[in-house]
Amino acid sequence: MDAIDPTPMLAPSSQLRGPGSVVPIIHDGEHWLLVRGDDGVARMVINRCPHRQMPLAEEPCSMGAELRCPWHFWTFELDGSLREAVTIDGPVAHPDRYALATREVAEHNGAIWAV
Ligand code: FES
Repeated sequence: MDAIDPTPMLAPSSQLRGPGSVVPIIHDGEHWLLVRGDDGVARMVINRCPHRQMPLAEEPCSMGAELRCPWHFWTFELDGSLREAVTIDGPVAHPDRYALATREVAEHNGAIWAV
């Protein structure tokens, strides 16, 4: 009997074409974004803005050099760290608290895999 690889494939690599490409997925009951970084590395960040919990993207697309929430325009680096967040009171304090949660992925054999 062959061993079963319990690591699920998340998406074909070809779906993340270039830096800023994103693919929304559901994994382990949570909404995530697969993101191709500036360095060419595939990452997975939570697809839920820390401001009001809205999705950052609902379809595969290219978001360019940053992940911009379409609701109130908080922006995140492609690795999920907060780039800029402004409220009516001004820039948010403690921006480290608002980074997007991440999960590790691996890319090989033409696909992106959960690890
Ligand atoms: S919900 Fe994302 S910036 Fe407000």
